[in-house]
Amino acid sequence: MRVLVIGSGGREHALLLGLDRDPSVTELHAAPGNAGTAAVATNHPVDVASREAVVALARRLAVDLVVIGPEVPLVLGVADALREAGFATFGPSAAAAQIEGSKAFAKDVMAAAGVRTARAEVVDSQADLDAALDRFGPTWVVKDDGLAAGKGVVVTADRAAARRHASECLEAGHPVLLESFLSGPEVSLFCLVDGEDVVPLLPAQDHKRVADDDRGPNTGGMGAYTPLPWLPEDMVGRIVDEVVTPVAREMVRRGTPFSGLLYAGLAIDEQGPAVVEFNCRFGDPETQAVLDLLESPLGEALNAVATGTLAQLPALRWHDGAAVVVVLAAENYPGAPRTGDTITGADAEGVLHAGTAVDTDGNIVSAGGRVLSVLGRGADLKAARAQAYERLAGVKLPGSHFRTDIGRAAEEGRIAL
Ligand code: GLY
Repeated sequence: MRVLVIGSGGREHALLLGLDRDPSVTELHAAPGNAGTAAVATNHPVDVASREAVVALARRLAVDLVVIGPEVPLVLGVADALREAGFATFGPSAAAAQIEGSKAFAKDVMAAAGVRTARAEVVDSQADLDAALDRFGPTWVVKDDGLAAGKGVVVTADRAAARRHASECLEAGHPVLLESFLSGPEVSLFCLVDGEDVVPLLPAQDHKRVADDDRGPNTGGMGAYTPLPWLPEDMVGRIVDEVVTPVAREMVRRGTPFSGLLYAGLAIDEQGPAVVEFNCRFGDPETQAVLDLLESPLGEALNAVATGTLAQLPALRWHDGAAVVVVLAAENYPGAPRTGDTITGADAEGVLHAGTAVDTDGNIVSAGGRVLSVLGRGADLKAARAQAYERLAGVKLPGSHFRTDIGRAAEEGRIAL
């Protein structure tokens, strides 16, 4: 099977490495890819937001399967264009990708499906903002109602900071969503979804704040681990039954069936799971950890979704143990990152590239905010953390930063429901 993966981040590199382990995958291509994906696939510098450019590339390469990683091409209908051109495609239609593209749409689907989520209000004018802010708190959750790569969310106990973020979104012409704060530890559950058929992957936990002990602004994700030793055994089943399947059915009922990866971001409290957000694609950096433990062939699983045969896929098999991924971010991230610095040690095992490129002298250089992530696997979380941080010590990037506590609270038994 010849496979083309769209995107260049850590999750796309992890997808390519997973596909490379599948014996049925004979050829791998990435668009546009990065310095790391070039080691496992052929990179193609096309504009992945262009339906025409992606379809032309798929035709030229005569691929059997296209896997779309990022949300932007999905929301722009790249999957629709590929399907219209006859390509088996992993990734939802533009209509179904609205589950991530519009938070107001996601709330509407959840209300119709009877799924537990935060109380929310959409505000679309400055005139309504103060009264709306008064209806929330003491912790405010303010979301940009558009694609913002995880950085459009501000969670704060400071009303002035909440107001500032909301005003900036409104000034940029985006409505904002105010939400009640959901307490309880967060879980990311990725599910393969093909219409009403749902197959969950291992649950993972992301670390969204930039600094140790969950301090500082939100980021796209600074590290993750899987599985979750503190999660009750029945919780994945409950999330599938109470959240993902009802939403998948509601999408079918609306005539916009979801086909691809539905990412449920949840908070778990004594009543069970409540939805924080949905994404229409694999999450980053949880994917790097989750796919590292997948024993079943990844190409076969993604192809089953793309060809509408997920119901016939054999049960997924997983390696024992735990996986941890730690993100190395460029100076100033999540603000405008410094780029163009030379990275050393980035070609080592377990290093997954995201914002990297090769300069004219052949050096691997930083080219984005979250530059790369480093993976560790072990018999348990402690061993996996140790390997991830040992590998990270071998990677050097001037001015870079990372969290030192990925998975630590879970390892120390400090997460409880
Ligand atoms: N883990 C956060 C995201 O992928 O958006």
